Amino acid sequence: MADDRNKKPGTNLRSHKWFGGTGREGFIYRSWVKNQGRPDDLFDGRPVIGICSTWSELVPCNGHFRDLAERVKRGIYEAGGFPLEFPVTSLGEVLHKPSTMLLRNLVAMDVEESIRGYPMDGVVLLVGCDKTTPALMMGAASCDLPTLALSGGPMLNGKFRGADVGSGTHLWKFTDMLKTGEMTEADFFEAEACSSRSTGTCNTMGTASTMASMLEALGVALPSNAAIPAADARRYTMAQLVGRRIVEMVREDLRLSKILTRDAFENAIHANGAIGGSTNAVLHLMAIAGRIGVELTLADWDRLGREVPCLVNLMPSGKYLMEDFYYAGGLPAVLKEIGPLLHKNAATVNGKTLWQNVEGARCWNRDVIFPLDKPFKPQGGIAVLTGNLAPGGAVIKPSAATPALLEHRGRAVVFESIADYDARVDDPKLDVDPSCVLLLKNCGPKGYPGFPEVGNFPLPRKILAQGVDDMVRISDARMSGTAFGTVVLHTAPEAAAGGPLALVKNGDMIELDVATRRLHLDVSPEELARRLVQQYGVAAGGDYILRVSGFHLDGDLSIPAISVLKV
Ligand code: FES
Repeated sequence: MADDRNKKPGTNLRSHKWFGGTGREGFIYRSWVKNQGRPDDLFDGRPVIGICSTWSELVPCNGHFRDLAERVKRGIYEAGGFPLEFPVTSLGEVLHKPSTMLLRNLVAMDVEESIRGYPMDGVVLLVGCDKTTPALMMGAASCDLPTLALSGGPMLNGKFRGADVGSGTHLWKFTDMLKTGEMTEADFFEAEACSSRSTGTCNTMGTASTMASMLEALGVALPSNAAIPAADARRYTMAQLVGRRIVEMVREDLRLSKILTRDAFENAIHANGAIGGSTNAVLHLMAIAGRIGVELTLADWDRLGREVPCLVNLMPSGKYLMEDFYYAGGLPAVLKEIGPLLHKNAATVNGKTLWQNVEGARCWNRDVIFPLDKPFKPQGGIAVLTGNLAPGGAVIKPSAATPALLEHRGRAVVFESIADYDARVDDPKLDVDPSCVLLLKNCGPKGYPGFPEVGNFPLPRKILAQGVDDMVRISDARMSGTAFGTVVLHTAPEAAAGGPLALVKNGDMIELDVATRRLHLDVSPEELARRLVQQYGVAAGGDYILRVSGFHLDGDLSIPAISVLKV
């Protein structure tokens, strides 16, 4: 081992290659940075911390990140570090078209190349709206510096006419009420401002809150990162503590790869089940795992998800919101409950194990966080379905579904695309009843393109008018984490890539059985072969099979290769 005794402090740091030099190189790197008014001692070998910000006025969920970054900087200075804030492309669910998912990996590259190319020894990730969390984590994982994630926190509870209103979840409800005449246009307009009362991300257990919880369960964020509201002073206190801690992490060389282990991902999957987390977590955690070299499969999600019930009574699975979740104890109280399922020795960013962080946690409201032996809903987690309609798998979130529909056989009502759906769904002549299965094609990564969140497509007006609020719906799309219903998503291979979904016709019978993880199209192989010939224009007169090659749902939007073979 090299003898470092005579080395100046900081000469083993990555940033020393830029700021520690003498002569022309050192002059260049320091001189230009001093144009911001930096004293000489900032270049004395102290850790340089990048603050990777997704602030943008086009991403309202992250609109308070400038203030948050200032607090992180305060903590970095206090601990003897040198903060340098930098922007990356931000992705916001509400305003971006066609789908933020189309750009998640592009942002991950932006993050990775920024961290790689600039002089930083550690990095703080400021994340909030859905895709910003996985994109920044993916980019950072590829670089493997000491990394600490800080979420922006959820909005305060929405309040409309005396009742709590959840982001997204109530939007879907209000939209249905507008369709049925239970709400007027004026009511609907008034509800807008009542739904979003403060800075922050969606206040339901949607994708943003789910991913913020995943950061905490993975150990890459400080305890209580997920639930402290954005408008709560304690969010800003946490930002300052994050700044202090990341400097220590650089000194301890506590890199991301020491935290993002297989055990950490298993803990996160269990936590996702217990909180009734978003189906989008499947794609995002698998993509982050891929970047850090941990193998994680759909089978892991199903196996681990079966072990854990849903403990958290939050929208869309239940009735409370993230503010209530924080006051009830937040994720530490949930992790304490599922302690028997956790890898307790998993490392976390504050230097303690996951269990050391949560073993003293208490629950202050048992109607928000239920105990493990008396859960809120028996089925948490994400169920992974397979069958002839989904040879590459499909997912459903049982905790947000109607229990009576989890085993169902119904007649397919098919929409070939989202445009076809929009044109026909409210047609009074649409041949549909509540027992039917609504099926939407061509909304996957390739079909839309970009894998949009349209999988929870609203029911036909004439069904809603009967007082029915859920039907089995199947698609190759994703859905918002704020949404609910008996909704089968990510059906793979997608229709546009030649998946069996493309072959379904109106009137076909479809069987869903979540308990046995089965999704079956009750159509004979002969008829499917005939449809294949028709669909793909291959020569008639023989038997055909659909071959799916090289397919894997790894969260990086791999497109399956489909070929039709004559046998
Ligand atoms: Fe940004 Fe929900 S739209 S968190």
